[in-house]
Amino acid sequence: MQMPDGLPAEIDLSRPSAARVYDYFLGGAHNFEIDRQLAEQIAGMTPNLAATMRAGRDFLRRAVRVLLENGIDQFLDIGSGIPTVGNVHEVAQGANPKARVVYVDIDPVAVAHSRELLAGNELTGVIHGDLREPERILAEARELGLLDFNRPLGILLAGVVHFVGDTDRPGEILRTLRSAAAPGSYLVISHSTFEDQPQEMLDAQRLSARTDTEITLRSRAEVTGFFGDWTILEPGVVHMPLWRPDAPSDVDANPERFGAFGGVARYDEHPG
Ligand SMILES: C[S@@+](CC[C@H](N)C(=O)[O-])C[C@H]1O[C@@H](n2cnc3c(N)ncnc32)[C@H](O)[C@@H]1O
Repeated sequence: MQMPDGLPAEIDLSRPSAARVYDYFLGGAHNFEIDRQLAEQIAGMTPNLAATMRAGRDFLRRAVRVLLENGIDQFLDIGSGIPTVGNVHEVAQGANPKARVVYVDIDPVAVAHSRELLAGNELTGVIHGDLREPERILAEARELGLLDFNRPLGILLAGVVHFVGDTDRPGEILRTLRSAAAPGSYLVISHSTFEDQPQEMLDAQRLSARTDTEITLRSRAEVTGFFGDWTILEPGVVHMPLWRPDAPSDVDANPERFGAFGGVARYDEHPG
């Protein structure tokens, strides 16, 4: 793989990175041998996982399309990964060439690749940020000047909140993000779960401890709680393939095998 320009010197290439392992599973080219080794090890233990990651991207695409249909034209995508394979700005700007997208990721490699890929696309921006510091992300997003927080916004948290452990207070982080958004905004979350999962999936998730961030699997009730008092859209917080599939035939016979819930909510102002 070609090293992107501007790759920070402090990157430890001897450790696998969640973003690059994910890119490998999605069929991208932005990964190193150390990432591929871990990916193959995980895939050997649970062949479902690669399909799970693709199901995650598919859920995100469907959710973004629903937001676009509801007039959302600006997106804050936190934990965006490497935006090569079917990414948010392509879906968004394909439907609305004026759509704006700010990508945020903790992984410096993902950020360096994102900056390179998006150079010249003036309606997109990239922030190197940590979901555990939401105020900082919001401040940097405001500074970039691409998003207008006085207008409805789509906040995308696809496959990222499970990287925030309970001690880092994900509930408070979500509250901070929700309170920065104007009425009419939407929140998209997909999140790994232990509910309905076989043991080998739970074992594979434990291997995630070898990347920079460990995964915390959560219940449907906990994931639902992240939406706060926003109105959860039909069909609710469900196994990802069940969330508004493009066609009934797209739904796997065992939708729970992907091990993650997906949901979308809207900020409706409640009178009184
Ligand atoms: C499973 S990938 C999801 C990528 C993309 N959102 C999608 O659904 O296709 C998770 C991404 O979250 C990033 N990530 C993990 N912890 C994070 C944190 N605390 N703050 C921001 N990004 C984080 C990882 O670097 C990785 O790129």
